[in-house]
Amino acid sequence: MPSTTASPLVTPLAFPEGSPINFGASVTGIDIENLTDDDFALIRSALFNHQVVVFKNQSHVSPKAQFELTQRFDPAATSYGHGKVVDAKRSILHPDLKTIPHQPQVQVIGNGFVSEYEGLKNIQLRHPHHRTFHATTIPDAEDLDFTRFYRWHIDAALYGLAPPVVTTLLAVRVPSGRRQTCRYDDGTGDELDVPLGTTAFVSSYTMYDQLSPADQEFARTTKVEYAPHPYVWMSGAKSRSDGLGMVSEGKEVPLDQLPAIDEAKIQVLPMCWRNPETGKLALQVHPSAVRKLHLADGSVVDDLAEVREIVHRLQRPGIAPKLVYAHDWEEGDLVLFHNRGVLHSVVGAFAEDEVRLFRQCNVAASFFPEGPEAVGATAA
Ligand SMILES: [Fe+2]
Repeated sequence: MPSTTASPLVTPLAFPEGSPINFGASVTGIDIENLTDDDFALIRSALFNHQVVVFKNQSHVSPKAQFELTQRFDPAATSYGHGKVVDAKRSILHPDLKTIPHQPQVQVIGNGFVSEYEGLKNIQLRHPHHRTFHATTIPDAEDLDFTRFYRWHIDAALYGLAPPVVTTLLAVRVPSGRRQTCRYDDGTGDELDVPLGTTAFVSSYTMYDQLSPADQEFARTTKVEYAPHPYVWMSGAKSRSDGLGMVSEGKEVPLDQLPAIDEAKIQVLPMCWRNPETGKLALQVHPSAVRKLHLADGSVVDDLAEVREIVHRLQRPGIAPKLVYAHDWEEGDLVLFHNRGVLHSVVGAFAEDEVRLFRQCNVAASFFPEGPEAVGATAA
C-alpha cells in the first residue's frame, strides 16, 4: 500500500537535457481512496499546470474511487464522456470499450482474453491497430517492430456533450516491455522509439506557442465545426499515416445516412481553449472529426480537403518526435491527463497473447471550454 504519511509532492517529469517537452508531473503522498479537499486542490492544480499527472503504485484503487476522482474535477458532470454511443455498429469507438457493470462510467480497454475482471466475464479485448484505421499500413512482416500513432485525439463526443475536462487511466495489467519504432510515414523520415503500448501525449499549448504570429491570430479567431455523429460520419474514411486527421477521399458517411441529426447538438468550438489556471491557450482541435472552419470575417470553409489541410498544417509541428511524451506504462500507474490541453494517441501493436488491461474514465463536462477571449472581457 502507498504511504499516506508523506506530504503530497508534485515533481515535474524528468526529460533528457535539452528536451523541449515542458509538461507532465508525478504526484506522491496522496491516498486516492481517501482524498481530502486539500489533496484534490493539489491534484487539480497539478493537472492544469502540468497537463499529465502520474501516480505510481495505484493497483488498489477501486473503480468507484477512480470515478470519484474523475468527477471531482466537474461535480455536475455525471455521464460517460461519449454518452450512450448511437449507432454502435458503425461508430469507430464501439469495439474498443467494455463497461464495468457496477461502475458504468469506467471502461475497460486493452488487449487479449481476460476470464474475469470486476464483474466482466470472458472478455476479449482488442488494442486498436492502425491497419483498421489508416489509409496505408505497415507490412505484416514488420508489424511487431514498427508501429504508428493510431489516432491523435481528444476524448470527446463533439456532438451534444461537452468535452470532458480530464481522463483517468489505470494500468491494471501490462505485458512486459519490448520496444517499437513509431513511424510517421509521411515523407519526413520522422520516427520515435516507444515502449510497447505506450500512450503518446503532446501539449496543445506548445502546439499553439510555436505557430507563427499570423497563424496564432488565425487560430485565435477561427472556430471549428465538428461533424454530426462524428464517429459514425468518419467510419468510412481512413486516417493519415501520422494519425493526425483523415485523408480526403469522399468516404465519409453522407449526412442523410447518419442517425437523425439534431442541429442544436452540432458543435462549433473555438480553435483555442484557455487553460482555467494559467490562462494559456491550447490549439485544441480533434483533427479527425473536423468538418468546417468558421473564419473571423464570417466566411465558412466547407471544402473538407481544404479544412483538413489547414488544420494539419497548424497541428503537425506540434507532434514532432521531440515534443511527444510516450508514457512507459507500469502496472499500477494511474495517469490523469488534461483532455482540454493535450492531444493523445494509442500506439503500438500487440501479439495475440500479450494481455493488457486498463481502466479508463472520463465524464462529459457540464460546461464548454473557454475560448481565447476571457469570460467577462468586453469589446473596447
Ligand atoms: Fe482517448
